[in-house]
Amino acid sequence: MSVLDGKQVAEKIQGKLRVEIERLKTERAIVPGLTVILVGADPASLSYVNSKGRLAEKLGIHSTQVKLPEAALAPDVIQAIVAANDDPQVHAILVQMPLPKHLDSWKILDHIRPEKDVDCFHPFNQGLILQNRASLFPCTPAGILEILDHNEIDVSGMNSVVIGRSFLVGKPMATMLSNRNATVTLCHSKTVRLDEISQAADLVVAAIGRPGSITADMVKPGVVLIDVGINHIETEADFARLCQPSQYEGFKKKGYAITGDIHFQALAKASRYTPVPGGVGPLTVTMLMHNTVELCKRSLSVTRNEK
Ligand SMILES: NC(=O)c1ccc[n+]([C@@H]2O[C@H](COP(=O)([O-])OP(=O)(O)OC[C@H]3O[C@@H](n4cnc5c(N)ncnc54)[C@H](OP(=O)(O)O)[C@@H]3O)[C@@H](O)[C@H]2O)c1
Repeated sequence: MSVLDGKQVAEKIQGKLRVEIERLKTERAIVPGLTVILVGADPASLSYVNSKGRLAEKLGIHSTQVKLPEAALAPDVIQAIVAANDDPQVHAILVQMPLPKHLDSWKILDHIRPEKDVDCFHPFNQGLILQNRASLFPCTPAGILEILDHNEIDVSGMNSVVIGRSFLVGKPMATMLSNRNATVTLCHSKTVRLDEISQAADLVVAAIGRPGSITADMVKPGVVLIDVGINHIETEADFARLCQPSQYEGFKKKGYAITGDIHFQALAKASRYTPVPGGVGPLTVTMLMHNTVELCKRSLSVTRNEK
């Protein structure tokens, strides 16, 4: 059993990005620019937005945040998107999900221009992924492929089960694994006999948002486990059921612990697994920076071609 260390992979990518960003600045006089739009004050979303801002600053990316109140209406959010679309210093736009319930996410996200769509929300970009013609991918599944590549895990022919079918994680992940010749089953809350399906898997990607959902009896020995879930554990009883004893000191100090969707007893059966925290999470934010730099470079080639 060995840990697939996401922090290590993220640091390697960040090192390359620093060099590229510096080169763009000195040779092309351009600074990659990222705008993150946050609607409302959900503490988890706010903390993700802040960590994205901090990493952008650390790497030399120009990052701006637009914070709108919880009660903002669709035209307010669309106006912020249009302003970022029209700003030549912004190469990448991210609307932090989830949006408040009164807003129709698709109607809003459709306004992000495909060439500034850093998390590949736009139907044009999702279509390219489906057709296996994309060169930019949603940050979380892109990060997972980076972890697999770094650790020389070839998914071709692997019986792979993706659990969770969100358009942010599960669906693109299933498509991207299929594009790499994995045999993919995409599961969700209505899947019948999930345990039997997951028991047969060589690779399980869990993106559910329910702590400890994948239990030891649901996986076979030697499986590769990728845990996308980020869950806050706040009570002693939940901690005892769902967290490793080694997390206890941090739990007492902070008053909460973070755990994934895969139970630690299932992780013990794996040949390799991503931990939570320190697995997929560091890659998601790093791939956001990677995609921002890519979109910035693309804007240069568009400008050159137009001349
Ligand atoms: N590590 C990272 O960087 C990162 C990035 C993104 C998200 N996340 C975390 O990953 C988790 C999933 O995120 P998301 O945005 O994909 O969530 P989401 O939009 O809420 O989707 C959850 C998916 O899980 C499925 N599901 C729910 N209960 C299930 C069950 N009992 N059995 C099987 N499937 C079940 C749902 O099925 P239905 O479609 O049938 O409802 C849905 O497809 C969350 O904890 C989130 O915080 C982490």
